[in-house]
Amino acid sequence: MLLEQVIRVADFEVAAQERMQRTGYDYYASAACDEVTYRANCDAYARLFLRPRVMVDVSSVDVSTSLLGCPSSLPLFISPAAMAGMAHPDAEVALAKAAGSQGIIQVIANMASRDLEEITAAKGPQQQQWYQVYVNPDRLKSEAALRRVRDAGISTLCITVDTNVIGRRERDQRNKVADRSQIALAQRKDKSTAGGVAGALGNFTDARLSWKDLDWLRSTTDGKMKLVLASRRARTPCSQRSTAWTGSSCRTTAAGSSTTPVPRWTRWPRSRRR
Ligand SMILES: Cc1cc2nc3c(=O)[nH]c(=O)nc-3n(C[C@H](O)[C@H](O)[C@H](O)COP(=O)(O)O)c2cc1C
Repeated sequence: MLLEQVIRVADFEVAAQERMQRTGYDYYASAACDEVTYRANCDAYARLFLRPRVMVDVSSVDVSTSLLGCPSSLPLFISPAAMAGMAHPDAEVALAKAAGSQGIIQVIANMASRDLEEITAAKGPQQQQWYQVYVNPDRLKSEAALRRVRDAGISTLCITVDTNVIGRRERDQRNKVADRSQIALAQRKDKSTAGGVAGALGNFTDARLSWKDLDWLRSTTDGKMKLVLASRRARTPCSQRSTAWTGSSCRTTAAGSSTTPVPRWTRWPRSRRR
């Protein structure tokens, strides 16, 4: 399928399957265990309807908004998904350019295929880039990474809080990763090869991560960075000063249909009304 033939989002999956190597495709397309929650979340999205307003002049429409204080031309952003290099050699650098050309926020994945400095160098003068953090079991590694992020000029961090335990993606687990050049730079030295791409990443998240770590995170970032907690438990209250919550990680672990979150952007500030 050619790019010109892509007419809806689902078509991208067909195009990707035709082009990507199986290891990469299965990693991106797989979801936890029997993928029950993944299907339930797709169904949940299908149950959302837009209420059209009629007899309104729509000859000029402005859907721009701001997300947690950052301007965006659309009420959506590029979510962090590890190792874009498995989909295209230009990886996160291409995503930076695309986000810049469209005026949307890019959240750079902790497990990016390209160097952080390469990705930030690709952004335009007004472009917003945020950085996603997996808190490492070795806190010194996280502290070093966060210093680097600060030096790269990034001031908003998305802390992933629902990956204390890595999800079990069975489709991914059945594959062997022969080519380690695809693996995220942050983990490339790790020797683990078991269980697909996720397995090859080795141990990169701290099972002990809890609310009390927010103070550590603040001290590590001099209290100057904006922290966003990214979790599928979108209703979890957050009492921490200057910390916002957002997001869902629908594909990773079983949420159960009764707790399927409302898609995050429905909670965000509405687009400017005319
Ligand atoms: C293959 C894959 C890789 C992902 N990698 C990351 C990641 O590196 N860091 C992260 O915080 N979230 C990661 N996520 C979660 C996404 O950022 C996003 O929150 C999640 O997929 C929910 O959005 P969706 O319903 O549009 O898939 C990943 C999701 C998928 C499917």
